[in-house]
Amino acid sequence: KTIVAKADLENEELFRKASDILKSGGLVAFPTETVYGLGGDALNPKASEKIYSAKGRPSDNPLIVHIADTASVWELAAEVSTQAQMLMEAFWPGPLTIIFKKKDIVPHETTGGLETVAIRMPSHPAAMKLIKDSGVYIAAPSANLSGRPSPTTAAHVEEDLSGRIDMILDGGPVGIGIESTIVDVTGDRPTILRPGYISADMIKNILGDVMIDPALESVDMKVRPKAPGMKYTHYAPKGKLTIVEGEREKVAAKIAELVACKQAEGYKTAVLCDTENTDLYSCENVLDAGSKKNEITVSSSLYRLLRLCDDIGADYIYSESFREGDMGYAIMNRLIKAAGHRIISV
Ligand code: TXA
Ligand code: MG
Repeated sequence: KTIVAKADLENEELFRKASDILKSGGLVAFPTETVYGLGGDALNPKASEKIYSAKGRPSDNPLIVHIADTASVWELAAEVSTQAQMLMEAFWPGPLTIIFKKKDIVPHETTGGLETVAIRMPSHPAAMKLIKDSGVYIAAPSANLSGRPSPTTAAHVEEDLSGRIDMILDGGPVGIGIESTIVDVTGDRPTILRPGYISADMIKNILGDVMIDPALESVDMKVRPKAPGMKYTHYAPKGKLTIVEGEREKVAAKIAELVACKQAEGYKTAVLCDTENTDLYSCENVLDAGSKKNEITVSSSLYRLLRLCDDIGADYIYSESFREGDMGYAIMNRLIKAAGHRIISV
């Protein structure tokens, strides 16, 4: 039976209970500023194994270790470079995960067999309190079943993991809505392994240099991404998603044409569009995906809408493109994956 409770920061008894679960090797899902995480004791191999089996996730896909103070980095990492320290200083607590060479105390079960460990200090107060109160370094992947979109509400976690984990802390809808940026500073050049809210420009401003893992730009499955998890086709909705790109009116006309065609064949459709464009569509299931002018409204609704498309039972989904702004690259990284690289330019 999974306990579900509001993550009220004043509720000491609740956090004590959550801490006890973590300390005894159990699993607690909790909110972060990016997406909900599925937490277990990062130094307990059995807890990591439980995380993999609860998610149905391949165990070669390493977990991110969540900490509450910078001193913890020196407990877990064998080497803390100047570049890493500059990033920690600039972006922690916050949505940035940094890769370090690991110390022996971090079990291979947590790192998917790698000699490196991914570490992040989240800024969400409930996440912070849970790490501090429990005194546990919390290994936490996104709290979804493998293959589903990352959860942005506690209800999403319940949908996927109820009965499979011990507790869910409900902190309401998350702010950012897509997973943290992952950066590797263990090699010759700082490299972004997964784009997120912290953009390449923001990192470049601090380090003077950054590159993007070339595998992220490639459709060739043989080019292996440096973050093992990035090779999986995440969050593909059950329906067939296609992105339509180009000038506003032309995109709307093309989508209307595609929708009419599929509806004539008896299929159910859905459209993901910018808030400012909802009036351009008169078909069924026009879903407001937020405004490009305020891109966090797009990132925070993306996964919820992909889940909604499944709930609606949409056979074909057409989405406008959302490339603008600092986070456009990160949003499109998720959307293009969900679309299996189907993009039409008009
Ligand atoms: O925003 C986030 O990062 C969320 C919240 C809960 O903190 N967590 C999250 O975890 O997205 P997960 O497990 O869904 O994604 C972890 C990613 C995977 O792509 C994994 O391959 C990569 O991090 N990763 C973990 N350890 C790594 C390592 N040592 N080297 C390279 N990539 C690593
Ligand atoms: Mg994930």
